[in-house]
Amino acid sequence: MSGQTALVTGATAGIGRAVAVQLAREGAEVIVHGRDAARGAKVVAEIQANGGTARFVEADLTDAHDIERLAQEAGKVDVLINNAGIYKFLPTSEMTEELFDLHLNLNTKAPYTLVRALAPGMVERGHGAIVNLSTLAAAVVTKGTGMYSSSKAALEQLTAVWAAEFAKAGVRVNAVAPGPTRTPGTDAMDAATLKTVAETTAMGRIAEPEEVAEAVVFLASPRASYITGVVLEVTGGRLSIG
Ligand SMILES: NC(=O)c1ccc[n+]([C@@H]2O[C@H](COP(=O)([O-])OP(=O)(O)OC[C@H]3O[C@@H](n4cnc5c(N)ncnc54)[C@H](OP(=O)(O)O)[C@@H]3O)[C@@H](O)[C@H]2O)c1
Repeated sequence: MSGQTALVTGATAGIGRAVAVQLAREGAEVIVHGRDAARGAKVVAEIQANGGTARFVEADLTDAHDIERLAQEAGKVDVLINNAGIYKFLPTSEMTEELFDLHLNLNTKAPYTLVRALAPGMVERGHGAIVNLSTLAAAVVTKGTGMYSSSKAALEQLTAVWAAEFAKAGVRVNAVAPGPTRTPGTDAMDAATLKTVAETTAMGRIAEPEEVAEAVVFLASPRASYITGVVLEVTGGRLSIG
């Protein structure tokens, strides 16, 4: 992927960090996005130590002006990975208005705003790849995930619409739907919950972020040149009923 610039949102941790490292290994110049400059610098240093090229851009994706600034500072982007996201599992009665807005703003509106800002350049240049991070919870009813799964289901529908909208211009748009994955985000959950979640997969374990990143990088790469509009599940398999 040399000669290509890739913007990875939420690349300071977890799945985004693993995607950034793997894209750099494929030769892409990576823009590591996040809010935490110290963690961003660590990821950039790791990529550079491996011989890759990367720089950090800070932006709060809940702020529309910050998103526009990020798009400006990113410049020419060939590969956009909409990874930054939030997941709070709560019963509906406990979901606050603030958290409702946070899920929609970060998981749905920020990817929309970035695609609106960056896809026209891809169309103009006649090539580009976008990968959106969804979740298995968008397709499978999962306790407490009303707002999270809805915000990602919307992103999956946008993926399908954008794939159709941009296909003839040479821009592919796909999504990856991970199952439970070991990241700083899930590390914050208690061990019993993680064990319960792991047991909902056919493989009986949670994923490492690098396993999810492999699928993201494949869809972003020219190796997936005839694939657009798909949601690729990376879930360790579904359990059978009975
Ligand atoms: N982990 C899982 O089990 C799992 C399963 C299915 C789907 N997913 C999806 O995969 C994606 C990554 O998940 P993860 O577990 O790797 O996440 P994570 O460990 O919680 O890391 C979240 C990343 O998003 C960034 N971020 C959070 N809020 C932000 C904001 N307001 N503005 C800008 N950046 C922000 C964080 O950057 P800073 O800290 O630097 O701000 C960080 O880099 C998410 O979209 C998630 O929904 C995860």
